[in-house]
Formats: sequence, C-alpha cells, structure tokens
Amino acid sequence: MTNSLPLTLQADAPGIAEAAALFGAGQLVAFPTETVYGLGADARNGEAVAAIYAAKGRPSFNPLIVHLPSVRAAQRYVIWTDDADRLAQAFWPGPLTLVLPLRDGHGLSSLVTAGLSTLALRVPEKTSAQALLEAFGGPVAAPSANPSGRISPTTAQHVLDGLGNKIAAVLDDGPCSVGVESTIIGLDGPPALLRAGGLPLEALEAALGTPPERTSTPENHTDITAPGQLQSHYAPTAPLRMNADNPQPGEVFLGFGPMACDENLSESGDLHEAAARLFDLLHKLDALGLPIAVAPVPTHGLGRAINDRLARAAAPRPENRQPS
Ligand code: TXA
Ligand code: MG
Repeated sequence: MTNSLPLTLQADAPGIAEAAALFGAGQLVAFPTETVYGLGADARNGEAVAAIYAAKGRPSFNPLIVHLPSVRAAQRYVIWTDDADRLAQAFWPGPLTLVLPLRDGHGLSSLVTAGLSTLALRVPEKTSAQALLEAFGGPVAAPSANPSGRISPTTAQHVLDGLGNKIAAVLDDGPCSVGVESTIIGLDGPPALLRAGGLPLEALEAALGTPPERTSTPENHTDITAPGQLQSHYAPTAPLRMNADNPQPGEVFLGFGPMACDENLSESGDLHEAAARLFDLLHKLDALGLPIAVAPVPTHGLGRAINDRLARAAAPRPENRQPS
C-alpha cells in the first residue's frame, strides 16, 4: 500500500515493462482487461495479496481471480477437466472465469483462494493485459479495481477516483470494451453459473450442450458462492430503482432504447453498447448525488449481466458499510 499518488503508465512497451516490474516488487498495479480494470498483484506473494484486500476494504472470505496469459499457463494451477477444455478452447482469451479444483504444489498464496480448495482462473483477451501477463511471467491475482461493494471501474480515471491513494500505478489503456465483469462458471462439479457476466449464457449453453446449473444466493446457501452474488454489490452511493418506465420528480433517468432521459445506455437498444457504458454512466449519475431510475433492459444476452448488476445496485444496503 502506498500513500503517494500512483503512476499513470501508458500501455506501451515501457509502461508495460514498468507495470510488470512493480508486480515483481510486490506492488499493486491496476490494469485494464476487456471486462473491467483489475487491481493486480503477484498471486504468489502473500503480502502483496493481503494489500489487495486492504486497499479494497474487501472481506477476506471473498476469493480472487488469478489471471494468466494462456490456457497452458492456467492449467498448471488446477485439475483440468473436459468441460474446462471445451470452454477454454471456445472462449479463452475472453470474458470467462473458470473455477476448478486447486492442484497440489500450486505455489499461490492461500489468501488468493480465501482458503477454498478451488481456484478461479481467467485468461483475458485485451492486448495490453496479455502483454503485461506475458512480461510478468507469473500468476496475477486481480479483483475489480474498486472499493469493495462499489461500482466497478471501466476507465483508469474510475480507478484513480476510487483507489488513487492506495495503489502504486495504473496502466491506462482507455475504456473497457465489454464493460461488465467476466461470467464465472464453477467446474468443480456439474457446470454451474456463479456469476452472469460478459460472456452471454446462450454462448456457454451452446458450447456445453446443456444449460449450466444456477446457484442460489447467500441468503439460502452458505456453501461456496461468488460474493459478487452478495445481494448488495456494484452499488452507487445514491439509491437506484430499476425497471422504471418514467422518472419520479427528483430522480435522474438512465434510459435504454429511444426515449427521453438524462443518459442513455444505448439509444439503438444494443446490449453490447449498454454493457460497455453501464458502469461509466452509473459513476457519472452517482456523482450528481440524486436517486437514479433505470429503464427496463431486456434479459437476454448481455442483458442478463446488466440486469444482475442493476438488481444488486438496487438492493437494500448493509447499514454498516464503509463509505468509499
Ligand atoms: O472480469 C472480471 O472478472 C474482473 C477482471 C479484473 O478480471 N475481475 C473481477 O474480480 O470481477 P472480482 O474479485 O471483483 O470478482 C471475482 C468473483 C468474486 O465474486 C469472487 O467471490 C469469485 O469471483 N470467486 C473467486 N474465486 C472463487 C472460487 N474459488 N469459487 C467461487 N467464486 C470465486
Ligand atoms: Mg468486483
């Protein structure tokens, strides 16, 4: 953790080399992926991983995703399965995270998995993320680079606004193209959807030949869950109301499709555009300090992840949550 201002590194060869060197020195570096910006550290370095939890104010029972540059690099940490192979061949690199049983001798800090016997793995597609992971040559643990429970960052500025005094550097490579976090599939049993995300469920179903099981939320399920499933998460400071046909007086209105509104997720009703703009518009509207009403968004394709994030942003907030 650092108290001086972070370096903003450009996503060119010197910037990527510097970011990789900072990982090697046990520092926290935020970096872009196609989904959201991650807050990265060397996953083998317990102190560095502890610093991720501290910077985010993240509960230590909430495990982290490990990022690697290739399927081959990912395989050495887990017990690989046929389903993993099918999904990795089809969707890696890309916005998909696979949860698999940890392999003996993995060498990762136990803080990464929060003591679980499974590990979440992701091979991101964004060129600068790939280059950084290749340059570092080791496993990078990275949650989304936002204070715990708040809106995920899709630009370097969002990262600086949320965590600016707590990280060594941010690698700036512009806005994220997908805009919602990766889809998470549990493969330590029959395929299970742990988090809807940037890879639409329809594509996964087609690759698996069967729909993944849905897991239940922590309210009625105390086993392993992705704490991204916590009811209140991804939340702006202002209250949020979804499926609103019209704003009420005093609300700002986030639209979808052709309509009168303060900001529009996608005037043409394109769900990819809406996902890519979602967190940026929530950050912007939240800065106005007014309650936010959001128009209905279809539930197919990326709409599933968009509605999931909106539902958590709209959920009642824990009273004791730390301000960000
Ligand atoms: O797109 C993404 O996935 C971004 C980028 C940076 O890769 N990362 C991200 O990380 O969203 P985070 O920490 O914000 O969300 C990871 C989710 C959490 O809900 C966590 O509980 C879950 O993954 N998770 C991690 N390891 C797990 C495991 N072994 N079993 C079940 N869930 C796990
Ligand atoms: Mg997150």
